[in-house]
Amino acid sequence: MKAKRRVVTSSGRPAGAKRMPTARSVRSVIIPEAPRQRVESASASIATRTAVADAPAADIDLRVDLGRGLVLPNPILVASGTFGYGIEYGDVIDVDRLGAICCKGTTLKPRIGNPTPRVTETPGGMLNSIGLQNPGVDAVIEKYAATWATWKVPVLVNVAGESVGDYVEVTRRLEGVPGIAGIELNISCPNVGRGGLQFAIDADAAGEVTAAVRRVTDLPLLVKLSPNVADIRPIARAIADAGADALTAINTLSGIAVAPARDRPLLGNIYGGLSGPAVKPVALRIVYEAAQAVRIPIVAIGGVTELADVLDFLAVGAVAVQVGTAIFADPTLPVRLVGELSEECRRRGLASYRDLIGSALPKRPATPSAKGVEYRP
Ligand SMILES: Cc1cc2nc3c(=O)[nH]c(=O)nc-3n(C[C@H](O)[C@H](O)[C@H](O)COP(=O)(O)O)c2cc1C
Repeated sequence: MKAKRRVVTSSGRPAGAKRMPTARSVRSVIIPEAPRQRVESASASIATRTAVADAPAADIDLRVDLGRGLVLPNPILVASGTFGYGIEYGDVIDVDRLGAICCKGTTLKPRIGNPTPRVTETPGGMLNSIGLQNPGVDAVIEKYAATWATWKVPVLVNVAGESVGDYVEVTRRLEGVPGIAGIELNISCPNVGRGGLQFAIDADAAGEVTAAVRRVTDLPLLVKLSPNVADIRPIARAIADAGADALTAINTLSGIAVAPARDRPLLGNIYGGLSGPAVKPVALRIVYEAAQAVRIPIVAIGGVTELADVLDFLAVGAVAVQVGTAIFADPTLPVRLVGELSEECRRRGLASYRDLIGSALPKRPATPSAKGVEYRP
């Protein structure tokens, strides 16, 4: 198949104190109805703030090439599940100033999601077990794609499934739809064909699903790594060898919380995914290791709340970052980071942010070691 070319051009709160999302601010994105008032009441002042500040300097090159013609205007993306379908934020920020939007996980059939409670706060983060609630791929296309097609910002559809066939069919339906710039495969899902083992924790399964999707699409294909593995390198290699254009890393870490009465686990689904600043060191380690194992670009995710986090991820080899949980506390953060990154480059006398990539990687590729597995110095 011939690769299509999609070249996109485009154009806070003070970096410092980290504020974690509250359960209420988290609900504002996960449950569409309740939060609108909160968002709308905040929108006027936020819009004014983002209009006067944060514009990236025109002379600094922030473009990032994720392969197959997907060139983002800047390396600050928003993470799947934390920005809805983007449309919910149209009144709050100028979405066209983002590098890209990864929409909520999308499955073949509609899903009502997991039993409640689905969200709880943790020290330095949150646990969620939304269970991929979404209206299904056909409804996503019908409701959102036409609007996405009018935006400059590329929208990547986050695709989830329970079998290779699911992933392939969802991708087939997205192929060629105007407004869809690429696919991000969420492979942290149970593979019913293999006794519920997640695709993402097994190199063969991760490679198999990536190859199957690659065969049916020309769209740029990003595959999202799970941190819940002993060694990321063989999995990253299998995905790259199977034809992915880029990796994204990381998805949430598996965890549980206990109910206040201590008579049961707190979340309705028992297990949840940990996200937020608490996971950043793990995400840094995964990106650091994957960056030395594959040649395709890596987009980092995990606990970004300020510019220093972006710079850390670039230093360990990421070419871009996604902002996730922090959006619940401050939806203006991603756009502000674009401006701050550009300002940082200017301060350092750099013409391009790309000079910041990989500065903390070993000068020579690291030899295989058990350190990533054992965590012992
Ligand atoms: C409420 C919530 C829902 C999420 N839903 C998805 C999803 O549908 N698909 C996916 O690949 N990742 C999903 N994620 C994971 C995020 O995209 C991201 O990988 C993770 O939260 C780590 O980044 P962060 O610490 O910046 O939040 C979700 C995360 C949260 C907090």
